[in-house]
Amino acid sequence: MFLKAIIGGTGVYDIAENVMGKEIDTEYGKAYVDIVKINGEEIVFLARHGKEHSVPPHLINYRANIKALEKLGVKYIYATAAVGSCNPRFNVGDVVVIKDFLDFTKSRVTTFYEGGKSGVVHTDMSDPYCINLRKRFYEEAQKVGLNIKGDGVYVCTEGPRFESAAEIKFYSMIGGDVVGMTNVPEVVLAKEMGMCYAAVGIVTNLCTGIEENAMVLHDIQNAVGDNKEKVMNVFLNVFKEKIDQEHCRCSKSTMRL
Ligand code: HPA
Repeated sequence: MFLKAIIGGTGVYDIAENVMGKEIDTEYGKAYVDIVKINGEEIVFLARHGKEHSVPPHLINYRANIKALEKLGVKYIYATAAVGSCNPRFNVGDVVVIKDFLDFTKSRVTTFYEGGKSGVVHTDMSDPYCINLRKRFYEEAQKVGLNIKGDGVYVCTEGPRFESAAEIKFYSMIGGDVVGMTNVPEVVLAKEMGMCYAAVGIVTNLCTGIEENAMVLHDIQNAVGDNKEKVMNVFLNVFKEKIDQEHCRCSKSTMRL
């Protein structure tokens, strides 16, 4: 049993060297993870886009990834996400704790439950991102001096193209703070499996039309790289302590009809 996992987004492709790679078969396809021993405990690491960043956002096998983690026994997931900012409060390099999402994806299967044998299941989205893992992230971040810019609403677009300026204006008007292409359905599927899932955004660019000039794509790897080590350390520090599912509703969020 491996209880805890980290999903690495753009720019985060490993957490240690000399790890044991593992291929996991699921009914949705294969997933690839590393098992890493840290602080005396084995933690699962999954690179969302693959180790070589070879899988674009719309083609990621989200169901295989989450199902594989579930098969390994994972109950707690921290994820990183490279995001663009459409809120002037958040700038390149900032760390934002994702608190909710707006889903503008178009072609993805967003559930494990497709009727028949799998049943008809509705999942509560009052707290898509585990309130306990979020709170623990803030507490541990303070201890290691990681500056968190605040909570943000994540707009998930289909990609792989970036957004038009009109789209960003709209997303911003309806309450979006940061924009990415991967958090839906990842967060939804984790919740369907009764897992605690939290995601931390690292701002890599200002969204289209936010800057006066054409959108500048800052060096994404660098923007993520500056903060990724600290964010990872905070994840691992939280994982060092005892965690449970008593302080959130993640394990009780599905309603089977
Ligand atoms: N839009 C969508 N996804 C992204 C962006 C963006 O501006 N930056 C990083 N991922």
